[in-house]
Amino acid sequence: MEFLLRLLQCFLKLISIVIYPLLNLLLARKGPSTIPPIRNQLVTYPLVDVIKLMRQRKLKSVDLVKAYIERIKEVDPHINAVVQDRFEGALEDAKRADGLIAKATGEQLSALFRRYILLGIPFTVKESCGLKGMPIRVGSRQRAHLISAANGDVVNNVVAAGGIPLLVSITPEYCFSMETNPATQKRCLNPYDNKRTAGGSSGGEGALNGAGASLFGVASDIAGSIRFPSLFNGVFGHKPTGGITSIEGHFPDSKDKVCREYLQLGPITRFGRDLGLLTQIMAGKNAEKLDLLTPVETKDIKIFYALGFDGLNGVLHKSPETEMALSILTALKYLKSRGCEVERAPMTDFRNSLEISLGSLVLLEDFPYLINTANKKNLNEFLTEMGKAILGKSEYTRDALYFESIRRFNATMSTENILKYKAEAEELKTKFAKLLGNNGVFFFPTFPVPAIHHNSSILFLSNVDYCMIFNILGFPTTHIPMGHDDNGLPVGFQVVAAPYKDKLCFQIAGELEAAYGGWVIPTPHQLEPLK
Ligand SMILES: *[C@@H]1O[C@H](CO)[C@@H](O)[C@H](O)[C@H]1NC(C)=O
Ligand SMILES: *[C@@H]1O[C@H](CO)[C@@H](O)[C@H](O)[C@H]1NC(C)=O
Repeated sequence: MEFLLRLLQCFLKLISIVIYPLLNLLLARKGPSTIPPIRNQLVTYPLVDVIKLMRQRKLKSVDLVKAYIERIKEVDPHINAVVQDRFEGALEDAKRADGLIAKATGEQLSALFRRYILLGIPFTVKESCGLKGMPIRVGSRQRAHLISAANGDVVNNVVAAGGIPLLVSITPEYCFSMETNPATQKRCLNPYDNKRTAGGSSGGEGALNGAGASLFGVASDIAGSIRFPSLFNGVFGHKPTGGITSIEGHFPDSKDKVCREYLQLGPITRFGRDLGLLTQIMAGKNAEKLDLLTPVETKDIKIFYALGFDGLNGVLHKSPETEMALSILTALKYLKSRGCEVERAPMTDFRNSLEISLGSLVLLEDFPYLINTANKKNLNEFLTEMGKAILGKSEYTRDALYFESIRRFNATMSTENILKYKAEAEELKTKFAKLLGNNGVFFFPTFPVPAIHHNSSILFLSNVDYCMIFNILGFPTTHIPMGHDDNGLPVGFQVVAAPYKDKLCFQIAGELEAAYGGWVIPTPHQLEPLK
């Protein structure tokens, strides 16, 4: 362990113990959600059902696209999740898809759907993932004029499968935060409680999906950016095995080869049963490596679990709230009844989880800096900007600067020590992959608390390794929603598997969704009969 780093962590923990309960009191308990109820049944169907209805010609792309456009228009004033839409273009795309489907006869129709699995199906895109012709400012004023010249690889895979992009959604500046409060537009709000953040950095996708305004989103995750928003907004999110999805076209990125392992694009969706198909499409050719077509039986899965870090590492982190831990125990009990073997995993090998996570981030070559990338060793300009930000006078956001300070100050570690932790990560990876084996998964908190208040992510920053350690190790992990706490906020946990065993995560997600209902809408539906 690193003394100075852990001292800072301890300091943050102590402040959060004092301040956070006060914030909770001051900001009053949650009122009713302001999100309008869902009326149109079409936006309640999972992707697998939508595909069937389209193939049977019982559903038109135009109707589905219109239903989602209406839902987005209705909820966005309550969540501020959209950077820019392309609704008109999407309706044109939908008409074209309907035309193709109408023209095709018997055999041709099957061939058409084999070629375009997502023909006519709308989806949303985290701005940083790159959608052709749309902004890619990623919350930064300096990037305000930038437009994507091409689709990012993963977005392109979805478009090539026939998917229709509706919009690009909001992120924090450079994706450098656990909450989505960019320099370029109003902060993103949580659909379950607008005093709280939708999380970050895929906050826009989290909020849209949580509000029932997207069938699925393309998102990205280098330190929990898919899983935090999935937890905070009560939806499923998958961070694939390192290197499975391409990061080409994403901002920020890095030419450093390991960045392709740490940073992964993946789906956010209300429907756990859709995760396998979505990951298959997003992964493109690499999907073969995941052997998704060979089925898994739930009873053959062995479950390891931990309710948090242990030993001194556990003490220094914020420990998970009761209802977060309960979500794991509830799932374990159910899966045991389904025939799964369950065993507590020792966490001693994770004792340097924070050092490993932050050290690996520091070592990333040419990952962009907010300020003065060319001369990153000169801290003057950075420190001046940081001072201005604290006084509210900077054109950069405070959160992004805090995050960047981790890299600027080498997370308080010497290069020699960082390299030592990196070697330790390699050992941990081998050992933990061996423990999980071909049929093992690991249940672990995604984060110690449900959706946090706006402006409070700094207090929780040193808990980023609950998620980030699995980016560094390259293990696939899925956040699974497991209902609400007493305040009506979504709770849940992450299920991790050994590299290339993503399908074990999907099997558990589907099983728990069937048993516990998965996503629960912020405001009850008021469905109108289908026309
Ligand atoms: C961080 O590490 C780099 C490379 O080892 C070194 O050049 C730089 O001076 C360090 N920065 C600080 C603030 O310690
Ligand atoms: C959070 O901080 C911003 C300034 O960055 C301020 O405008 C806003 O009022 C704060 N919100 C809360 C809920 O404290």
